[in-house]
Amino acid sequence: MSAGTKLLIAGAMVAWAGAAQVSAAATLTIACAAVGIEQRLCRDGAGAWAARTGHRVTLIQTPSLANERLALFQQLLAAGSSDIDVLQIDVIWPGTLGRYFTDLSPHIDAEVRARHFAALIDNYTVDGALTAMPWYGDVGLLYYRKDLLTRYGHGVPETWDDLAATAAAVVAAERAEDAEGAARMVGYVFQGKAYEGLTCNALEWIVSHGGAILAADGSPAIDRAPAVRAIETAASWIGAIAPKGVLNYAEEEARGTFQSGQAVFMRNWPYAWALVNGAGSPVAGKVGIAPLPRGEGGERVGTLGGGGLAVSKFSAHPALAADLVADLTGYDEQIRRAIAGAFNPTLPAAYDDPDLLRAQPIMAALRPVLTGAVARPARIAGDRYNALSALLWNAVHDSLAGRGDAAGNLEAAALRIKRLRRGGQW
Ligand code: GLC
Repeated sequence: MSAGTKLLIAGAMVAWAGAAQVSAAATLTIACAAVGIEQRLCRDGAGAWAARTGHRVTLIQTPSLANERLALFQQLLAAGSSDIDVLQIDVIWPGTLGRYFTDLSPHIDAEVRARHFAALIDNYTVDGALTAMPWYGDVGLLYYRKDLLTRYGHGVPETWDDLAATAAAVVAAERAEDAEGAARMVGYVFQGKAYEGLTCNALEWIVSHGGAILAADGSPAIDRAPAVRAIETAASWIGAIAPKGVLNYAEEEARGTFQSGQAVFMRNWPYAWALVNGAGSPVAGKVGIAPLPRGEGGERVGTLGGGGLAVSKFSAHPALAADLVADLTGYDEQIRRAIAGAFNPTLPAAYDDPDLLRAQPIMAALRPVLTGAVARPARIAGDRYNALSALLWNAVHDSLAGRGDAAGNLEAAALRIKRLRRGGQW
């Protein structure tokens, strides 16, 4: 036996001894998302469960783009890998990945499940099986620089036209004053990269113009007039109120620009609220949030996002993994994550929690925005949702980048979506 092997074993023995209170300590692995402080919150929550139970939890690093995390999970699960026990899944993935997950209903009391928003439990239920427990809810929001709107006498925009006009006026006023950093100041940042986040933005633009991704009969509606107008409107921002670089922005790039004080408006999820107001943020206390603006013929809406925790069918410890999921998605942990990271609880009762309301007063206002959020067509498209979304985000990205016009790009994507919908059926 080499010295190195001895050392390793000694190290392992120490770790086992520390877990002496359980008869058979197990090591679970969990794969959480990695946007903002998500990894840290996940590590702390899983670590607290491990310390209490005597088991161990290893964190697996994942890519920060939702669809890249999906590709990684698909690869591992399709190969029947037991490498991951618990997976953080996106609200749009139950139809795509559900068959790889343990039904959590037998593991989690009906009374505990009933504490969550029924619509979310429903979302994670596929063919009667509960594929994941809801962990947090997301909704697209408009972030604005309260201080700048007040200084230059503008209200919070209610329409996209207002937003464009206000953004341009505030940037011009900052430049005229020669304010610090004014040369780099931009009007609006959002998620314009070709990935799932752009589908979320596009859905907001389209619905806020009175359109839809799919019509009521399931056929594509992205080539209809409201959707085309919506994407044309967004394309008109590029190089005007939005920097060209936004075509390569995901959530964190948008937050980086806004948080460093270089943007008047930003579209992002609630997690950004905790960070832009966090210790050391140059814009802390200077930011407001509102529903996203509307266009002609539509409403002010945000896309529904969020995540749940699933247990892999290939896990060697399904009951233990379900216990970790129950703990992380339980009340105390959801309150902790909401206070530290503005992750919206999936438990209606949490919105009356005095500690949470004291630490994050915006939660009261966020509840109706969240419950009124518009869903992507993931339930209807099932395991073809990602392909549908990729067709949309690529057509929208091309239009924003000036490769072809919105009408032509959306018409071509609609044709391909029709083909994806084999025989007129999803
Ligand atoms: C957020 C949302 C998720 C969405 C993703 C897109 O993580 O919670 O639902 O798919 O952003 O980037």
